[in-house]
Amino acid sequence: MRANEVKSPELAGKEVTVRGWVHRLRKQKENAFVLLRDDRGGVIQCVMSADKAAPLTIESSIEVTGTVSQDARAPEGGFEIKCSNLKIYNIAAEYPIGEYQSDELLLDKRHLALRTRRMIAITKIRASVLQHGRQWFVQNGWMEVTAPTIVKGAVEGGSTLFKLRYFDEDAYLSQSAQLYLEAMIFSLGPVWSLAPSFRAEKSRTVRHLAEFSHLEAEAPWFTLDDILKAEEQLVSYVIQNTIKERAEELAFLKRDVTDLKKVEPPFERVPYGKAIEILRARGFQSVVHEDGAKRAIEFGDDLSIESERELTKDADRPIFVVGYPLAVKPFYVKEDPDRPGLGLTADMLAPRGFGEITSGGQREDDINSITARMQKEGLDPNAYEWYLDLRRYGSVPHGGFGLGIERLVRWITDVQDIKDTVLFPRTMSRASP
Ligand code: 4AD
Ligand code: MG
Repeated sequence: MRANEVKSPELAGKEVTVRGWVHRLRKQKENAFVLLRDDRGGVIQCVMSADKAAPLTIESSIEVTGTVSQDARAPEGGFEIKCSNLKIYNIAAEYPIGEYQSDELLLDKRHLALRTRRMIAITKIRASVLQHGRQWFVQNGWMEVTAPTIVKGAVEGGSTLFKLRYFDEDAYLSQSAQLYLEAMIFSLGPVWSLAPSFRAEKSRTVRHLAEFSHLEAEAPWFTLDDILKAEEQLVSYVIQNTIKERAEELAFLKRDVTDLKKVEPPFERVPYGKAIEILRARGFQSVVHEDGAKRAIEFGDDLSIESERELTKDADRPIFVVGYPLAVKPFYVKEDPDRPGLGLTADMLAPRGFGEITSGGQREDDINSITARMQKEGLDPNAYEWYLDLRRYGSVPHGGFGLGIERLVRWITDVQDIKDTVLFPRTMSRASP
């Protein structure tokens, strides 16, 4: 039986057996109080004689048999087990993680730290996000596909590529499945994938990982408007179902979900030019030089995390910033025929300063335009021959988007550091454990 199943008035006085680990331990003269954590992270207090508990240490693995007693004083729900029999699987060596530990130590010992109730709660919320994301795609007729992670070319710029030796040639870890999903829409229609993406991000920030879970989708004949509708429906569906399913975990994390309850379509669409005007009116600056030199933000600048925070600080729902200049976006973005120089592209910014969680839009579907854009970006079109074939053989208007699972989980859980949304984070300074 699991800890939470024991907490039922019908079981009072009945005998139960629960397996798990010693999460907390308080030894008194005659009795000992063991907070047992089961394999789903549920906890229940077990009371036993001090003799029985004598060998126990934190994280020892045990099986407790005893009678259920309903007692308002018992922590974690007012039930406890009066232990009649204790089976010990393993007496744990002195546990290296105490109550107050530095973030660094918790990362060094992540293989153990993931037993904390905070990590368990975040991971359960993450599991719900993944499950409901998958469910939304299935319910809406998108096909799940898998793209390769070892690739020959950049999608999101050469500076964040991880290079690897692939037999006798060079290859890279994928930054995005997008180009492969674009190949699939011609015969599979709307497709989506969930895969790791890799970015050699040299900046240490609370929202960048070197390896992240990337949910990507692509569909034929989708206009920018179709893409944004899919994105806002997906995100709203995931959030509404996750906050229902994980109310307990969110409460444990002290996440007030009043704002999340309001997340439903439509999300506001803010034209890029309007965003720049708002920021200028508030005296916002852009960093224009590596040495940190700044000037007033101008039309044409990319949006920094600070400017994204400024735009969303009072919002409860995400907003879309629509129509970024082509110059700040990758080669594949389609130019807006009505607004030369601007792209049919949008980023979804999560509210309250969380910033970008998706990027998406229509793809350039004309062979000449896309080749010219590649050259302008310094990419060698020869490396993208197969991709260019998609514009040679039955090209159609199409588009899609990519969503960072960890960015979404960070917003939903309101945890400060993106590293806490993954069990084994990969960053510039860490590839272990
Ligand atoms: O904005 P990005 O770079 O867009 C693409 O890769 C497109 N090719 C996706 C597509 O259209 N299929 O990445 C998409 C999302 C970002 O909005 C962000 O949420 C997340 O992926 N992301 C990261 N998350 C954590 N750490 C990083 N280093 C991330 N880089 C991007
Ligand atoms: Mg982006």
